[in-house]
Amino acid sequence: MSDSPIFRCIAEWQGNRPWGRFLDAGTGSHSLRWVAGLQTDAWTAITGAEGMARQVRDTVSETQRSQDRIVVGDWADPDLLAGDSYDTVLADYLLGAIDGFAPYFQPYLFARLRPLVSKQLYIVGLQPYVPYFPDDDAGQVITRIGRTRDACLLLAGERPYREYPLDWVCQHLEASGFRVEQTRQFPIRYGQRFVQSQIAMCEARLPRFADAALAEAMAATLDRLRHEALALDDRLGGLRHGFDYVVSATPR
Ligand SMILES: C[S@@+](CC[C@H](N)C(=O)[O-])C[C@H]1O[C@@H](n2cnc3c(N)ncnc32)[C@H](O)[C@@H]1O
Repeated sequence: MSDSPIFRCIAEWQGNRPWGRFLDAGTGSHSLRWVAGLQTDAWTAITGAEGMARQVRDTVSETQRSQDRIVVGDWADPDLLAGDSYDTVLADYLLGAIDGFAPYFQPYLFARLRPLVSKQLYIVGLQPYVPYFPDDDAGQVITRIGRTRDACLLLAGERPYREYPLDWVCQHLEASGFRVEQTRQFPIRYGQRFVQSQIAMCEARLPRFADAALAEAMAATLDRLRHEALALDDRLGGLRHGFDYVVSATPR
């Protein structure tokens, strides 16, 4: 049993039905550790990054069976897993990440996955928060962190994630040959770990800014943001803002 409420929800929805052949369509240590602990006939884990493949290989080194495989590929490539079929497909925070690997491919992702899903698709995603301007203190500091992070990634020559809302996901699933069965929202409480890791991610990008004066000013901005966010986290006992969502869908 997983300690993640989202994976617990998926297991609850799945009930007594067998997982069968399982595809982790956007793998990472968190999802693959969970998948590798399920009673599957075989699993396949896809990532767009060689570095991620190495990481997940280590994560499952003790439990990976001969029928399980980790594949580096790009969902924009029509040959990836062409002709394969899986009883259960999990797209765990894949949608938002797609933009970093296959720009502008996000509206086609569910249609791309459709022929691979024989029984059940589960989508996990993050409701977008970066381009919004909430009134409450926690929301304001979280969106400032998100905007600053995305700005730093762009200024360092990288592509930020692009998340999509739950209603967009449901509409695109229906338009891509799926029937949406259930959805659930999981409110998020951000904390110290989030603040520190996001600011650290920004600081690591500063040396790649083309403009050294901008990098120096950004370093000061990041320092202020970290202190403000940590103080607010302390005062409020966590920074409650937004939600993750999970969707279950079946092929029509
Ligand atoms: C945010 S991570 C997923 C998190 C992961 N499920 C976990 O447990 O930590 C996104 C994953 O999707 C993969 N990905 C993103 N775009 C992709 C694409 N176009 N083709 C294949 N994999 C892609 C990334 O390489 C990464 O493995």
